[in-house]
Amino acid sequence: MSTQVELHPLLTHLRHRFALDWHGIHGVAHWARVARIGERLAAESGARLDVVRLFAFFHDSCRESDGWDTQHGPRAAMLVESLHGSHFSLDRSGLALLIEACHGHTHGDFHDDVTVQTCWDSDRLDLGRVGIVPDPERLGTAAARRPEVITWAYRWSIAATPASRTPARSPLRRPGCRCRS
Ligand SMILES: [Fe+2]
Repeated sequence: MSTQVELHPLLTHLRHRFALDWHGIHGVAHWARVARIGERLAAESGARLDVVRLFAFFHDSCRESDGWDTQHGPRAAMLVESLHGSHFSLDRSGLALLIEACHGHTHGDFHDDVTVQTCWDSDRLDLGRVGIVPDPERLGTAAARRPEVITWAYRWSIAATPASRTPARSPLRRPGCRCRS
């Protein structure tokens, strides 16, 4: 397993090309929480921490709207491929997992690979910022489904939501929304 990441240059690049509000519901604070949640989950699930961390910073980086942007996952996967070797480095299997996790997080429900599933669970556990309590039935790892983990993530997500972006205003919060965050 080989991973090389210099986070500051990578984040600088992602911020430069990010089309939305850097401090919005899909911006850097969300990425940071997904990374921290992922670290906690990976300690129990056995997921690859390098992939989980990189997923946190890439997965929403190519969003073109804060609403129902169904192609942002595939776009993120393409960005991962384009920046591999210049802004970060992963071994072949890690890169494949990162691409799969980014590509599928827009539509995927569950995945057989624990690293990919841990990525998706980390994202879903930060739904509190848009007024949604994560549903344990939509979480795939035992680590994510534990009530104390859901409560910890939800409270953190809610606390981090600026008053100007209350959940009621979120474009994600609509009837029938099967939100991927
Ligand atoms: Fe997200």
